[in-house]
Amino acid sequence: MSKNLQDRTALYNGVQMPWFGLGVFKVEEGPELVNAVSFAIKHGYRSIDTAAIYANEEGVGEGIRKGMKEAGVSREDLFITSKVWNSDLGYESTLAAYETSLKKLGLDYLDLYLIHWPVEGKYKEAWRALEHLYKQGKVRAIGVSNFQVHHLEDLVRNAEIKPMINQVEYHPRLTQSKVKSYCEENGIQLEAWSPLMQGQLLENADLREIADKHGKSTAQVILRWDLQNGVITIPKSTKEHRITENADIFDFELSKEEMEKINSMNQNIRVGPDPDNFDF
Ligand SMILES: NC(=O)c1ccc[n+]([C@@H]2O[C@H](COP(=O)([O-])OP(=O)(O)OC[C@H]3O[C@@H](n4cnc5c(N)ncnc54)[C@H](OP(=O)(O)O)[C@@H]3O)[C@@H](O)[C@H]2O)c1
Repeated sequence: MSKNLQDRTALYNGVQMPWFGLGVFKVEEGPELVNAVSFAIKHGYRSIDTAAIYANEEGVGEGIRKGMKEAGVSREDLFITSKVWNSDLGYESTLAAYETSLKKLGLDYLDLYLIHWPVEGKYKEAWRALEHLYKQGKVRAIGVSNFQVHHLEDLVRNAEIKPMINQVEYHPRLTQSKVKSYCEENGIQLEAWSPLMQGQLLENADLREIADKHGKSTAQVILRWDLQNGVITIPKSTKEHRITENADIFDFELSKEEMEKINSMNQNIRVGPDPDNFDF
């Protein structure tokens, strides 16, 4: 169990990935973004999750450089993720998209590159490109996002390298039991997006009760639940007090009963698109 903000888990290829990171979905280019990323790094965050489609890789890169300087950490201390967007899924186009992301971020490698969505008929060619980048040593780990079990089974049937990560929507209303078991059985690390259900669960009475017992916020309880379930988590905030609050989850532990109670809140409710029925 992770004991501090910088604890890492070993992916099946041995690469160490932080259990906890900062998400930057819907944060536009500009000072708010740069400050959020640099503040997080100064505060001890080591993992940042962006994507080509967020259209903010330049500011994320600026925030990384600012944060590294102010925190006195080096590039190797950080873990940076980006994702190839659906319109770039293809062998050559994915290779080109990777170079574009690197350029925008101002980096010479990524720690993790993901296929953002499982677009039918396209993700296998894109995966060949990710395998190529990985074998060339251009990226330290490769993975997928929003893959259901059948997508994973289909992908690995033809793959040389299986994904190291599957990043999916995961929170107490969507506990993803099938995907989670499949990933656990196959050595694929699960990572939670929208862990806070984009803010929709923070007033929940059951979570509030558990939070009060520990003197914590409902957000902290949810994020702690992620980690105790063995799921990497990347909550988004641009507010310094919340960036701090979200990471302050290493000084308490949820009991077995509390974990079970939160697990049982599942209603298979999504805030994001359904990977089996999306049209973008
Ligand atoms: N792979 C994918 O398809 C995919 C899809 C969606 C997201 N993601 C990744 O996952 C990350 C997290 O998901 P998300 O951004 O959708 O949602 P989230 O992290 O579940 O929730 C973010 C929202 O909660 C608020 N918030 C954060 N901490 C809070 C706290 N302690 N108390 C009260 N409110 C709080 C934030 O507002 P403020 O900023 O105002 O604090 C923001 O409105 C994204 O940023 C992105 O990197 C990936």
